[in-house]
Amino acid sequence: MQTPPVTLAAGSDLRLRLLKEGDAVALQRAIDESRDHLVPFMPFATTDPSDLAFRRSWIDECREAFRAGQLFQYGIFRTDELIGGCSIHPIDDRTASIGFWVHVEHVGQGVASAVAAALTQAALEAGCERVRIRHDRANAASGSIAAGLGYERVGEEPHAIDAPGQTGTSVVWLLTRTV
Ligand SMILES: CC(C)(COP(=O)(O)OP(=O)(O)OC[C@H]1O[C@@H](n2cnc3c(N)ncnc32)[C@H](O)[C@@H]1OP(=O)(O)O)[C@@H](O)C(=O)NCCC(=O)NCCS
Repeated sequence: MQTPPVTLAAGSDLRLRLLKEGDAVALQRAIDESRDHLVPFMPFATTDPSDLAFRRSWIDECREAFRAGQLFQYGIFRTDELIGGCSIHPIDDRTASIGFWVHVEHVGQGVASAVAAALTQAALEAGCERVRIRHDRANAASGSIAAGLGYERVGEEPHAIDAPGQTGTSVVWLLTRTV
């Protein structure tokens, strides 16, 4: 796939933007405040160190991966507040996978649905023919998001458990470009 834009609009009040070093404090605070909410399904919430030096170098790595076309990570911003993170991950020439997390104080308001819609559109516009959402079977919210956006549930597959809320079975959803 081609490189998507560094900034994407998501719905009327959300913006997705390539992270920069100056976002490290806000990003770390959002993760710390949401940790209990993230731990069940997001391995990084358990494994990543909480210090700012780590978060700055992680952002540097994200920027390098974005430049190299390996992984397109964005912060989710509402006005100027960082309220989550999301990504487009190229899988092969035709397929990309998307992922997202939302600050615990901003869930239940359609944020992830709007973000997933924007990431899906960006991946298709960057040349992907298929976009994938894959989530643990216990993560019902992610399944609702995929279904709501018109993804097709194509099956289940085993995965290694790396977070305590996981069952070890993933549900795979695909959205295929029609034009
Ligand atoms: C999963 C997550 C991204 C959802 O974010 P959100 O902004 O609250 O999602 P939305 O408001 O767009 O809601 C999406 C759908 O999920 C449903 N939903 C939300 N929480 C749910 C839950 N605990 N169980 C079942 N469905 C749930 C909503 O009702 C909505 O469905 P609807 O549109 O049919 O009503 C968020 O809870 C999160 O960050 N969780 C931790 C990280 C994570 O699991 N990321 C996904 C990894 S695959």
